[in-house]
Amino acid sequence: MRVTLVQGDITEQRVDAVVNAANSSLMGGGGVDGAIHRRGGPAILAECRRLRASKYGKGLPTGQAVATTAGELPARWVIHTVGPVHSAEQDRSAQLASCYRESLKVADSLGAASVAFPAISAGIYGWPLDSAARVAACTVKAAHTGVEEVRFVLFDHDAHTAFQQAVESSGPTNDEIVAALSAQPADRWREVFETGDVGLLYQLGVVVGFDWPLWRRTTTVDVAGAPVSDAVRLATSIVRAERFGGPAPDLDMLKPILDRLRRWYETER
Ligand code: APR
Repeated sequence: MRVTLVQGDITEQRVDAVVNAANSSLMGGGGVDGAIHRRGGPAILAECRRLRASKYGKGLPTGQAVATTAGELPARWVIHTVGPVHSAEQDRSAQLASCYRESLKVADSLGAASVAFPAISAGIYGWPLDSAARVAACTVKAAHTGVEEVRFVLFDHDAHTAFQQAVESSGPTNDEIVAALSAQPADRWREVFETGDVGLLYQLGVVVGFDWPLWRRTTTVDVAGAPVSDAVRLATSIVRAERFGGPAPDLDMLKPILDRLRRWYETER
């Protein structure tokens, strides 16, 4: 997956799907929502009405996503998602992360190869730009999706700068993690499996630099059934937490992590 950044108007993007920062009514609004309905035309609203009359009678819940036609837009689909309103008291990062994750799942169900995202919740919903960018970049980089290009479309310079910094510091993509695993020498892997010491992954250079506290707060992982890159991210969060403090490391996660790494090593690489 390539992650790209553009400063511009999301309604002008020539991608398979553009993501709309909608509200749960799906009946339009201001900001991105207003622009997409204005430029996309009535066909979009007509499909939103049908969604409200059927599956989403009570509205689209926060963090979920649903697709409609893109009407007159250059894109093929609009994927509507509802971001959380920012709260100073409550950490709603997991709901914001869900907007990106669920939108990519919808994109995969459509067969969309390129998806443009706005800075969800960073406008009317009041989410501070830097934080919104970190959640967006961390979630997209760790997402398991067939989408080939994720394009963040930022409306102004400040947003573009915030997202550029977040993307640059959000660590490797899953493909890059697997490439790093494959580059490790066999004898080092044997040592990891014989000793059971996940800390050795640190020396193997397999522990990755990314915002692991944010990822842990916004992601539930069943490591046995997850792609191997999730095992590496979990290992990183344990190794880092032991060394630098942070959420108590789930030491009972060590065995599932090692089992998952061993399965990758023996059957998938
Ligand atoms: N293209 C790209 N980005 C845009 C555009 C556009 N045409 N218009 C606005 N933005 C940017 C804003 O500057 C902000 O950074 O998109 C980001 C998200 O802003 P909003 O559109 O206000 O979305 P959000 O904060 O998620 O609030 C959603 O606003 O429009 C209503 O109906 C919508 O109730 C919902 C709420």
